[in-house]
Amino acid sequence: MKINTMKEITLAIIKPDAVKAGYTGKIIDIIEEKGFDILRLEKLELMEEDAQDFYAVHKDRPFFGELVQFMTSGPIVVMVLERENAIKAWRDLMGATDPLKAAEGTIRKRFGKNVGENATHGSDSPENAENEVAFFYPELFM
Ligand code: RTP
Ligand code: MG
Repeated sequence: MKINTMKEITLAIIKPDAVKAGYTGKIIDIIEEKGFDILRLEKLELMEEDAQDFYAVHKDRPFFGELVQFMTSGPIVVMVLERENAIKAWRDLMGATDPLKAAEGTIRKRFGKNVGENATHGSDSPENAENEVAFFYPELFM
């Protein structure tokens, strides 16, 4: 199925820390309450090479190894979200990367543990959103 939308799409991930802690349902609830349409939803485990590819933009950062190890430490929940301004809206809803700095009421404030284990991922630009959605669901663009 090809994506046919006038709205914007973004890739969201519930990371291993939040899945393990049993926050999947709570986070999905918030996503629906905020008016996102969940076009795809899948629980899966990343292999090491998958995580390295997905986070390739961070390959030279000091936390890359830790990030790959964390993202392969257990199941994740991958979602394609559709909404007006989906990319920014989802990042605003997640809050700052570091849960300690995230605003009250944001997902990372509520469910994140620390700057590495911060509950969720969200695409940060239209180009990255397209690449990240295509990483998991290439058929949406064919
Ligand atoms: P994300 O890509 O997961 O949505 O997070 P983000 O844009 O807010 O943060 P980014 O700079 O893209 O970093 C990606 C993920 O790497 C981990 N990280 N660890 N130990 C550290 O200092 C550190 N900094 C970043 C986090 O899991 C972050 O979400
Ligand atoms: Mg990022």
